[in-house]
Amino acid sequence: METCLEDAAWDIAFTSLRIGYGEHVVLDKITARLPSGKISVILGGSGCGKSTLLRHIIGLARPMQGSISIGGADLFSLTRRDFRRLRRQIGVLFQDGALLGAMTLAQNVALPLSEHLALPRALVRREALRVLKMVELEDFADFYPHQLSGGMRKRAGLARAIITNPRVLLCDEPTSGLDPVTAARMDALLLSLHAQFPAMTIVSVSHDLMSLERIADYVLVLKDGLLHFAGDLAALKASQDPYLTMFLSRQAATSLGDFSESMDERVVSELAKWFRA
Ligand SMILES: Nc1ncnc2c1ncn2[C@@H]1O[C@H](COP(=O)(O)OP(=O)(O)OP(=O)(O)O)[C@@H](O)[C@H]1O
Ligand SMILES: [Mg+2]
Repeated sequence: METCLEDAAWDIAFTSLRIGYGEHVVLDKITARLPSGKISVILGGSGCGKSTLLRHIIGLARPMQGSISIGGADLFSLTRRDFRRLRRQIGVLFQDGALLGAMTLAQNVALPLSEHLALPRALVRREALRVLKMVELEDFADFYPHQLSGGMRKRAGLARAIITNPRVLLCDEPTSGLDPVTAARMDALLLSLHAQFPAMTIVSVSHDLMSLERIADYVLVLKDGLLHFAGDLAALKASQDPYLTMFLSRQAATSLGDFSESMDERVVSELAKWFRA
């Protein structure tokens, strides 16, 4: 495996993949390859299975069928030891940043080093400050997560994901919930990481179209449990597919929700009393 992983391009390939929870199939028949050294964006509506797919890429869950390979190594046929080795090369920015509340930012960001390596504490802290500086959080090293904004926590999550110089970086919704300017900064960070580490395979899961335009080289679109589109950004934008044009122009398929059913009269009258009380 060593030769294969040391030298190979670290692309991520899905073959006839079926994933889900218990009996519930979330995604099926996924065959695609996310190219190494590029930024891929996995796009799809809320609940379509984007985070589920990421959980499988890091081996937190096993596919129901099919396979996932990274750098040519089939994730689920590796020995535990080889899997752990591979996993060390994958940095993850979780959807909510996943910082530990009882630790400062510097301690959180340093975790991948302090947990596994025998290094002097001062050196580990210096490394933590180095990556915090990359995400413009060096002045907040000794703050706790609850003292930060959502955008800052996401940036700290990114710092922790990259402190080991991983070959693969997975980001779950790095820009969701951020204002447009902060979101653009997060994208700029991903782009500068990409420029600095051209071999790194970066995968970002998103439904942020602005972000898609800014960062995507390659795009997967998931819809109704299936892979709806795979290709580069230009091909996506040129597509005449009705769902894609609708998604890209942010239109809803039909009017949503049924507001025709009215409130029960008894609730109306009790509410009226309560409002007057
Ligand atoms: N731990 C779980 N157990 C059972 N079902 C789950 C679990 N996590 C997610 N699901 C289900 O899997 C489906 C996909 O969820 P997932 O979180 O992957 O969606 P998503 O595309 O990441 O959505 P969002 O954009 O809102 O983050 C949903 O139907 C959800 O209810
Ligand atoms: Mg999600």
